[in-house]
Amino acid sequence: MQLVHTAAELRATLAGQDQTAFVPTMGNLHAGHVSLVELARQHGRPVVASIFVNPLQFGAGEDFERYPRTLDADCEKLAAAGCDLVFAPDVAEMYPVPQAFTVQVPDSLAGDLCGVFRPGHFGGVATVVLKLFNLVQPRVAVFGRKDYQQLRVIREMVRQFNLPIDIVGVDTLREADGLAMSSRNGYLSATERQQAPQLQRELATVAAAVRAGERDYGALCADAMRHLKMAGWRVDYVELRDAATLAGPTSDSRRLVVLGAAWLGTTRLIDNVDFDLPASARP
Ligand code: PAF
Repeated sequence: MQLVHTAAELRATLAGQDQTAFVPTMGNLHAGHVSLVELARQHGRPVVASIFVNPLQFGAGEDFERYPRTLDADCEKLAAAGCDLVFAPDVAEMYPVPQAFTVQVPDSLAGDLCGVFRPGHFGGVATVVLKLFNLVQPRVAVFGRKDYQQLRVIREMVRQFNLPIDIVGVDTLREADGLAMSSRNGYLSATERQQAPQLQRELATVAAAVRAGERDYGALCADAMRHLKMAGWRVDYVELRDAATLAGPTSDSRRLVVLGAAWLGTTRLIDNVDFDLPASARP
């Protein structure tokens, strides 16, 4: 596996490749990322992973500074997973001048769910992903479905900008107790770590109730938020949405997703559970 740090080296290494499969990451990799690389191998070669903690997608007071930078360990994991090339630029390489041209994500996406609590976040994600796509020029790019709203933003960006890239979403990998794997799990104290799977359990409870025919979606989400708050979480949201559009469910919705974001201490966790809506449970 080769490691490059500059756009020039990346372009030179990838010259002539038209079947590249790409896995963008911010590093501090876990088994979930490894599964993205393994899946990427089934979609194209070479497999390229990027490792870049993107300042544009962090708001003031967020964890940009403390986000773990673990390049050596990450490269070991990527090599073992069958990655061919790692692109690990520094901030000056990605943004040699202040990034004045940016992707404007429509308010319907960027001003909803996580976007309400992280203004500017999805614009920052879309901008760096577009730059990475331009550098790597992949045929396919692989993203985790834990960042469900991010995946929706990227799919829509690719569609509206006519980018010739297939976007593949990969199911969330979970710890044995159900906690979604995330680089941010490392911030949790031992007590918080024990408590953390509750987020997934509450979302799964909402999903099960909806599948069983409960139609008061607002009350179900409010119950989930109440349970989390009672257990000491600071809850940003629990919402039920159409899985394809992320808009509120309509009578046409066939697949739904319950999404949640909540804080344990200083750590913000997100998760989601998507499911088919049986005909008997449709509004
Ligand atoms: O999901 C992530 O790790 C990041 O948001 C991404 C897609 C690598 C862009 O910085």
